[in-house]
Amino acid sequence: MSTFPKLGVCYYPEHWPEAKWADDARDMREMGLSWVRIGEFAWSRMEPEEGKFSWDWLDRAIDILGQAGLDVILCTPTATPLRRLVDKYPDMIAVTKDGAPRGFGSRRHYCFSHQGYRDECARIADIMGQRYGQNPYVKAWQIDNEYGCHETILSYGPSALAGFRIWLSQKYENIDGLNRAWGNVFWSMEYGSFDQINLPNQTVTEPNPAHVMDFRRFASDEVVAFNKIQVDALRAHTDAPLIHNYMGRITEFDHFAVGDDLEIASWDSYPLGFLEDRSDQGEDFKHQFMRQGDPDFQAFHHDIYRSVGHGRWWVMEQQPGPVNWAPYNPKPLPGMVRLWTWEAAAHGAEVISYFRWRQAPFGQEQMHSGLRLPNRDVSDCAAEIKTAGRELAVLEGAQTNPASAALVFDYPSAWAWETQPQGREFDYFRLVYEFYVGLRRLGLSVDILPGNCDNFGDRKLVIIPGLFSLSGNIQTALKSYGGQVLIGPRSGSKTDDFQIPADLPPGIPGLNAKVTSVETLRPTAPIALGRGGHFHIWREHVTGSADIIERCDDGAPALIANGKVNYVTGWPDSEAMARILKDQSEKAGLDVAPMPDGHRRRLIGSYTLHMNYGTNPVDLARFGIQGDQNLDGADIALIDNKTKKRVL
Ligand code: GAL
Repeated sequence: MSTFPKLGVCYYPEHWPEAKWADDARDMREMGLSWVRIGEFAWSRMEPEEGKFSWDWLDRAIDILGQAGLDVILCTPTATPLRRLVDKYPDMIAVTKDGAPRGFGSRRHYCFSHQGYRDECARIADIMGQRYGQNPYVKAWQIDNEYGCHETILSYGPSALAGFRIWLSQKYENIDGLNRAWGNVFWSMEYGSFDQINLPNQTVTEPNPAHVMDFRRFASDEVVAFNKIQVDALRAHTDAPLIHNYMGRITEFDHFAVGDDLEIASWDSYPLGFLEDRSDQGEDFKHQFMRQGDPDFQAFHHDIYRSVGHGRWWVMEQQPGPVNWAPYNPKPLPGMVRLWTWEAAAHGAEVISYFRWRQAPFGQEQMHSGLRLPNRDVSDCAAEIKTAGRELAVLEGAQTNPASAALVFDYPSAWAWETQPQGREFDYFRLVYEFYVGLRRLGLSVDILPGNCDNFGDRKLVIIPGLFSLSGNIQTALKSYGGQVLIGPRSGSKTDDFQIPADLPPGIPGLNAKVTSVETLRPTAPIALGRGGHFHIWREHVTGSADIIERCDDGAPALIANGKVNYVTGWPDSEAMARILKDQSEKAGLDVAPMPDGHRRRLIGSYTLHMNYGTNPVDLARFGIQGDQNLDGADIALIDNKTKKRVL
């Protein structure tokens, strides 16, 4: 069996005349695609009346696709609860923080805690499993679609409230324990029973952060439980891998915890949509990369999902042209669809599947491109996809080896700092992402590790920014680790109960330091660092006997260390980040090569993929590459690490 990355596509047979399905399937194969994902929004066609199923069309669609040589990913349709289910269970509708019920008429309108809806999901997953669990063409399953997209994890309705009270009573057992853990003596918030506790919305001023943090943990656990119900229903009927497709920059639930119940992680990669819709970068950057995407955003998620999937991960939806949902929706530069495809492959994706086969002439996404136009003519990206599909065979057998540098990413920390940002710009995703970007600009390949990781392996450098609580496993990992580690800012600054640790933060094994005060900074008032660059957003004051490696201009320690355990006392801007990470990486013995603007590289097996997200050519001679040394904008070069020659 060949093991190089395969290409696929998302297809909606229910949108098109059946007479065209066979042509579509043939054309998919002709384009070099070998996987096709179907079914995730087709509930109204699977079960037109309650308990009356219509499987014939889906049977035929699967047969036609399978007989054409395509492997089918069949999805449960639970992201689109039917109108009649909403009528049957009006309280299954999610409720916003302001107390407004979400409406029917798009998707993802359910509350994860609603037992009636959970039962409906178990029922449809079970029936689909019975019918297709042993189907020879169904080679994988997707459960639901993009948990958390459109801000749909938190619901403030009656089902969530009932579930939260049970969750709390199981966690604390008695109400005194909860009162102590939350510090409810503050403002006389003490409760006499679990039934008195409400959801943390609609309070006059901010609710107790410990209350919010437990609600966030509960809400995440509800996603895990909701997903697990479908895992169990399907698992009874199939051994095929179960997958979920996560969405970019969604931190409202713990993806690692959901991933533990699935065989493969996947995510939906929309580089241009993400740049416009969910990037912290300024206008100049967005303009520079508007047709290429942020050079690090895709890679960061690829690395997260490789970790979430315990090594097995896919791109389930890859942007092929303009999307419809960002503030601006430009076309990619020629070459970018191939580059994005290759980049995913270089991070170890097993499958890269494009969204969608044919542009829909109706519904909400009419303006979203596909691999085919609404009339079935091919669209611009088709040639690039064909090329990439042919080229990827060169990766036969290539393994993603563990990277030498790792970065810890922890979903609970995102909830914690959203609960208590302390300064307007403090955002956990952004903090970790900026460290990631700093490492990539040094030409490093990076692994992402979860916040409860208990072993850093043989990695030479580990970075832990803003980790809410340093309890349990990560302490074990730190104690046994002999490599270079850079921690902070804000790491270890709370206990699990969202209190300041009795002995003051950061409580890092082997580091003799205490944080005595913190401050957040106006954008106009960054703190200059002695060796260049600034702290912005956040800075801390520390005492203790750790060595002072670097100071701020005002004399306060900026970087301290005991041996290889380093702590940075603020949020470095890009200049300070580049300098500090270069120094840390060199001390760790890593092969550092500062990248030209927009240029990135990634190790894959015995190759290195170079990617030019910029528009100007890059001279590869600076990397010691032999032969053809010119890399154009929006182009890739695959280098054989032994010969230093270009394979592509
Ligand atoms: C994804 C979603 C798809 C489609 C796509 C459009 O978030 O999973 O169903 O809406 O975006 O870009």
